[in-house]
Amino acid sequence: MNNNAAVLWKKLSELPQPTLRELFSTERDGGEGADEPGGDERVEMLSGRIELDEGGILFDWSKTHLDRSVLAVFEDLAEAMDFAAMRAKLFDGAVVNPTEGRAADHATLRGTGDPAKVEEAMALIDRMGMLVEAIHQGALGEIEHLIHIGIGGSALGPALGVDALGRDLSYCDVHVVSNIDGVALEAAFAKCDPARTLIAVASKTFTTIETMTNAESALKWLRENGVADAHGRVVALTANPEKAVEWGVDETRILPFQESVGGRYSIWSSIGFPIAMAVGMDDFRAMLDGARAVDTHFRNTDGAANLILRAAFADLYYTRVRGCQTRAVFAYDERLGLFPDYLQQLEMESNGKRVTADMEPVEGPTAPITWGGVGTDAQHAVFQLLHQGTHLVPVDFIASIAPGDELDPAHHRILLMNCFAQGAALMAGKAGEDPARNYPGDRPSATILCDDLDAAALGALIAFHEHRVFASAVLMGINPFDQFGVELGKAMAQAIETGGDPFDASTEALLERAGLAGRE
Ligand code: F6P
Repeated sequence: MNNNAAVLWKKLSELPQPTLRELFSTERDGGEGADEPGGDERVEMLSGRIELDEGGILFDWSKTHLDRSVLAVFEDLAEAMDFAAMRAKLFDGAVVNPTEGRAADHATLRGTGDPAKVEEAMALIDRMGMLVEAIHQGALGEIEHLIHIGIGGSALGPALGVDALGRDLSYCDVHVVSNIDGVALEAAFAKCDPARTLIAVASKTFTTIETMTNAESALKWLRENGVADAHGRVVALTANPEKAVEWGVDETRILPFQESVGGRYSIWSSIGFPIAMAVGMDDFRAMLDGARAVDTHFRNTDGAANLILRAAFADLYYTRVRGCQTRAVFAYDERLGLFPDYLQQLEMESNGKRVTADMEPVEGPTAPITWGGVGTDAQHAVFQLLHQGTHLVPVDFIASIAPGDELDPAHHRILLMNCFAQGAALMAGKAGEDPARNYPGDRPSATILCDDLDAAALGALIAFHEHRVFASAVLMGINPFDQFGVELGKAMAQAIETGGDPFDASTEALLERAGLAGRE
């Protein structure tokens, strides 16, 4: 580790650790010798908004243990780790993924970054827009259903986007299928009329075994159900158009994206096609606009005033200084039910690393295990551990002031009241009549409050987390853009199919039991 950084990490671990109650105490306000604001001033210091075209999002980090001294050391750490230069490299389209010699150009798809790359990205989006609009106007016949086949980054973003924004099915209904387990594809078939179904095959590489196997079965289903030109019903979303052509997709229905856009950062590219199919291109573009507002904030704001960098400071403070192994995210909004899943890949596939970008062993933990769910359901299931368990789990709450439903306003009022009450309860705790009824409190949370959960806000939320992961990676000195950890298991699965050295006795016995031992 860089020597200056090592000193700063040590300094962070030696700072006093006031409780949240102490940090909020108004006696700190302007009191003699107190340079740390409490109460309202603390809320003001640690909250900020990112404005969108309509409305915006509030990011309140005041219920975390960040204080001025912690922030100051993290700001020094950012300097020691060359954060500003790394951020410039990201947006300039320079190589930020050294193990694969690649840039990470996802922000160009929302209009941020190197102008030549932005131009190329915009042309790709326009091409997608033309196809989406042509299909909506009947160019491929009457299309009512879309089965989107992909996995990992080629499925999680589309599933989230469609679920969050596509509930009033204005254009066509979308089924995202990722699992190789045929039960998943059969479930989608059961809901679709083959005569009116389009298949999107989404794969950056166009080689992923789960996706290609599901795609073959979808073609077979179309053929068996009277669609003579099954390939004519396929749209390919890929950074490897040659493979898609080889597989039989006509070039006019291939929507390419750049090799320099990572799978888990690809929702903005043609991988977002099913979102545009479900909600229309205007909303898809609004999602890009929301993300661009976050890019602008992230790119142009320095130090702890940068809301994303500040979130990364808190994340690292909890994982590296307070020893938290997990971070939980609870969306108090049914439409964001898939957001924790999306974040899991983003955070854990990006920052679940054990070497630095310089190939040195990393010192200290990296990505927290990211988990979560929706409120209020989660309150009745896992919150017991958050309030009284032995783990310290920093929590993010995400909510929208405007409701997503048109029922009695009581629904949304109760939803939001619960969301805010949980953050307050985690922080305040309560002395109990006996140990079983005691709540220790001092448990941190952050609240992300959208004015409304529209397409722009969703784009902003996702971009906020992309940059948060990037900022954490830079401060830890790791490369967030590769994912070699997923390769070994894939290779070993293939070895079962193609033959190879025997595995350990346990695995061989399992293969035998499942009738899979007959490999050569
Ligand atoms: O195995 C991991 C991974 O490579 C992810 O990073 C990616 O999002 C997913 O597989 C799917 O890959 P592809 O889009 O190439 O099918």
